[in-house]
Amino acid sequence: MGEMQAMFRLLTALALWVTLSTGSKIVIQSSPDYLLQDLTRTLTIRCSLMDTDAPSGQVGRRAAGDLTETQLDVQSVTAISVVRNSQAEPVANLTSQPSAAVPLTDFTSLKVHGSLGKNHVSSPNSEHAFLEMQWAHPGRNQTGGYTCFIHAVDAQGQSVVFSTSAEIAQEFPSSDDMLGHISQLEKTVESLEERLKAVESSTGLLKAPHAEEGMVECVDSDSWNQDPYGNNGRYVFHTVKFQTPYDRPPMVSLGIDLLDESSDAYLRVHTDIDNLTKDGFTVRCGTWADTYIFKVRVRWVSVVA
Ligand SMILES: *[C@@H]1O[C@H](CO)[C@@H](O)[C@H](O)[C@H]1NC(C)=O
Ligand SMILES: *[C@@H]1O[C@H](CO)[C@@H](O)[C@H](O)[C@H]1NC(C)=O
Ligand SMILES: *[C@@H]1O[C@H](CO)[C@@H](O)[C@H](O)[C@H]1NC(C)=O
Repeated sequence: MGEMQAMFRLLTALALWVTLSTGSKIVIQSSPDYLLQDLTRTLTIRCSLMDTDAPSGQVGRRAAGDLTETQLDVQSVTAISVVRNSQAEPVANLTSQPSAAVPLTDFTSLKVHGSLGKNHVSSPNSEHAFLEMQWAHPGRNQTGGYTCFIHAVDAQGQSVVFSTSAEIAQEFPSSDDMLGHISQLEKTVESLEERLKAVESSTGLLKAPHAEEGMVECVDSDSWNQDPYGNNGRYVFHTVKFQTPYDRPPMVSLGIDLLDESSDAYLRVHTDIDNLTKDGFTVRCGTWADTYIFKVRVRWVSVVA
């Protein structure tokens, strides 16, 4: 009976250990899987160390001798590096000192980023660390075998190096690929045309801006209205209506174009704008004291504000 109980306890403990224990696994993914010559616009390769919750019971080793999976969860990831082809051309590195992902080749087209993750943090099926490489307009130079190495330290302080590879091939596009590409381009052009039309109509960018001009003459200051504030102030209003109303009140500027007055007194004249709306405005001409104005001609220009 005692033996049975001990056995049961052992089994329970084992089951618990198996359930709680997590492992680590290196994964390399590329998008797309292969390049279509001159058609593929971006190539993304991401190498990750995943926390797993279902230990395979075996340390994963592939024919090439890569360590791909362990039953032990890693404590920390110290570096990720990616090399290309049999010459092991360095492609990108991510280290903790300095803590940054750097491209080591294809400098004009390759952008890289990544993270070594946090120590001790382990949640099953989540990514512990990664290095992602993205090429713009990939071509033959980006084809070949990519091998990713992830340097890590396990809970016992042992260093572990995971590695795995992916092969990027380039294919000549089939006529289906080309037709698909053309139809995609046509859709893009159509949607750009629609957006352009919307921009044109909303901003009126391609039309000349709405501008108008005209003139107003104020004659014979003896016939003008008397200004109630004294000093023989006199003024007259002239209403201007725009040929086409603006969407909102425009900017208007005035300039005196001609001035004819009596030489018996000092020259005194002022002109200004009143009640400016999108439909028009009022010009006020004024003088004061003993000045006599035969005629003041005011030229105006309005433009969209
Ligand atoms: C990239 O990382 C690998 C492995 O850690 C290292 O051997 C190599 O020297 C590094 N290269 C550069 C340029 O930092
Ligand atoms: C491919 O690589 C070679 C050698 O590094 C280089 O001279 C050439 O410019 C590259 N081609 C492209 C399209 O980047
Ligand atoms: C300006 O508008 C106000 C309010 O509508 C009006 O009372 C005033 O007479 C107007 N002035 C002129 C010069 O038209």
